Parts: sequence; structure tokens; C-alpha cells
Amino acid sequence: MKVAVLAETAPGETRVAAIPETVKKLAALGASVAVEAGAGGRAGISDSDYTDAGATVGPRGQVLDGAELVLSVSGPDTAELSGIAPGALLVGILDPFRRREAIDAYAASGIEALTMEWMPRITRAQSMDVLSSQSNLAGYKAVIDAAAAYGRAFPMMMTAAGTVSPARAFVMGVGVAGLQAIATARRLGAQVSATDVRSATREQIQSLGAKPIFVEGVAGIEGEGQGGYAGETSEEYRKAQAELVSAHLAKQDIVVTTALIPGKPAPRLISDAQVATMRPGSVIVDLAADAGGNVEGCVPGETVERHGVTIIGASNLARSLPADSSALYARNLFNFLSAFWDKDAGRPVLSDEDEIVKGVRLTRDGKVVSERLA
Ligand code: NAI
Repeated sequence: MKVAVLAETAPGETRVAAIPETVKKLAALGASVAVEAGAGGRAGISDSDYTDAGATVGPRGQVLDGAELVLSVSGPDTAELSGIAPGALLVGILDPFRRREAIDAYAASGIEALTMEWMPRITRAQSMDVLSSQSNLAGYKAVIDAAAAYGRAFPMMMTAAGTVSPARAFVMGVGVAGLQAIATARRLGAQVSATDVRSATREQIQSLGAKPIFVEGVAGIEGEGQGGYAGETSEEYRKAQAELVSAHLAKQDIVVTTALIPGKPAPRLISDAQVATMRPGSVIVDLAADAGGNVEGCVPGETVERHGVTIIGASNLARSLPADSSALYARNLFNFLSAFWDKDAGRPVLSDEDEIVKGVRLTRDGKVVSERLA
């Protein structure tokens, strides 16, 4: 089977879907890998790194010619499909709800599109979970960006000229990104607290040495919630959470928000009035910016100032660490492909009965087949 690796064309995309390590592993499965020239440039991988790993490198038309499997990050747009053969598999983070037109075009071209961010959250799929691999890096980078924008130091320092007090950091939403944000802020020496609606996160917060801030006496989401995700909370809970958070926020220097509810706009966790209670010079990083934002006044992809507080509307932060995000993403893809690889057929065989395949498959035989897009 010939596997094509595309150079990404989406604005702002820095990542690449294969690294030399996964090229070698695909070759070991019996695939031949062709990489579009320059594909790894922003991730620090040269064309010769790919050829050393056994790939061929060439222009797009040559790479796509005869390819039955196309690996991408953001997915080609509608104008870029001409070289992809009908029946070919296209794998990427295809963002189906926001890129519905492209998904329809994949179907019309006979391409079988698989979107990795719809991987079900089951144990077997953990090593294929691109949301986790990318969110983890985003959580780290959110704290690094906050530290860079903050006019003070994070750790406590006792010097001959006096003491620098430690920064107080508050993480709202303790999923994959939030946990890494807590760990990173702790490593930098901040005093860290965190909150979530899922009660299962309380222990995780404590185990990272941070202080849990939880609404008491009103039911939030017990345990893990459906598929590990949160749902919407009751009106009573939201009110209690807002009161609790108001008192706490006013004492924070750094806030990282990560709260998401699948298929819904991001919950509003911080109002403009609450921002106004924070000390000028404080920094908020809103990792939910692209989903509507947890913070009032946040602008996706921009840094704004409200009441002297810097609000960073973090957009796809994994892209700002292209070498690591590409490596993790490429391994997610390889883990997915190898799990379904059929040695005799020399290609992945994707059964409709499989829970993973059902989750990620968008199009087949000229039609959009995903239930989520029905
Ligand atoms: P996410 O990105 O959907 O949401 C981030 C966090 O925001 C979640 O912890 C959520 O509970 C929280 N949140 C939502 N509404 C909130 C509100 N109103 N106030 C405060 N917090 C709010 O979640 P993510 O990071 O994708 O992970 C969710 C869970 O899924 C984690 O427990 C993780 O361990 C689990 N998971 C399981 C996997 C597997 O088994 N394959 C793979 C990845 C994650």
C-alpha cells in the first residue's frame, strides 16, 4: 500500500502527520511512504530526514499518485482533492462540524475520510487519542504563555533585596489540558488551585500538589460523566460555582480555563465583572477560546486587556510546539493504523462493527455515513 503524507496548507497549521520514526514503522508493516516536499519543515524535519527513514519525497501530484492512504493534519480543502484517488482513505483532524463543506466534498470525490478527534474514549484507543496528545501540550503551553505575559515571577524567591512572593495560579477545568497546566504551574513554583464539575478530578488535583476548589452541597457531575466528558450543570450549581469562584478569583494572578462540553458552546466561567475584581497585571489564558470562550471578553487568537488584566484567547496552542505535537500526533496515527493492519491484505481493514471505526469514519462509497453528521 502506498501512503502519502501531505504538506499542510491550512492557515496557521505547523504540524505534519508523519515523522521519520513512524515512516520506518509504516515501512516495517509493508507500506511504501511518500512525503510531500517540505511537509516537515515547520516541525524541524527536513526532506532528507524522511528519505533517510525510507520515504520518497516529491511534489504533491507525485506523492498522491497511486496512494491508497493519505495522512494529513487539518485535511485538504475542497480545491485540493483532484489528485486523491477515489476509494483512498484520508486521515486527519478534519473538524467535521466546522468543515462540513469539505467533508461533503470528500464524499463526492469517493474519498473515505476518517477524523481522529472523534476517537471514542475507551481504554483500547488511548494511544490513538489526538485530543489528549494535543491538549496535554496546550495545557503546558498555556502556562508558559501566561508566565511570559506576567510582569512578575512565578516562584517565591528570597533574595538579599527582599522576597518575591509566589504567583497564585488557578486552573478551571481539569481534563487533560488542565492537569498539565497544574503540573506546569507547580514546576514553575506557583501556588496552584483548581476546579472542575466532575467530582472525580478532586483527587487528581490533590495528587499534583494543588488545592481543589469545589462547590459543596450542590450536586455537580459525579464520577467521570459520559465517556469521561462533562455535561451541562444545573442552574443551582452554576450559581453556587459563580459565587465560590468570585471570591477565589479576586486573589489569583494567573488563571487558565479549559472547560469544554462536547457538542455545546464552552461554558461561561468568568464574567467581565469578575475580571474587574482581579489585580491589574494578572493574566488569564482561555484555552476554550475557539469553542466560544470560558471568559467574557476573550477574543480567539488574540490577546486583549480588560480592567488591566491580560486575556489570552488561546487558539490551537499545540501548533506552537510543532515538533512535539507532530511527533505525538504521528504516533497516534500509527497506533490507529497498526491496530487495524491486516498483514495479508497489506493495509488497514476497517470493520464497520468496530467501535473505533464507527466513531472516526465520516464518509464511504460516495456518502457521508457518520451518525454525528446525519
Ligand atoms: P474536555 O476538554 O472536554 O473538558 C475539559 C475539562 O473541563 C473537563 O475536565 C470537564 O469536566 C471540565 N468542565 C466542563 N464544564 C465545566 C464547568 N462548567 N466548570 C468547570 N469545569 C468544567 O475534557 P478532556 O480533557 O478531553 O478530558 C475529560 C476526561 O476524559 C478526563 O477525565 C480524561 O481522563 C478522560 N479521557 C479518557 C481517555 C480514554 O480513556 N481514551 C482519553 C482522554 C481523556
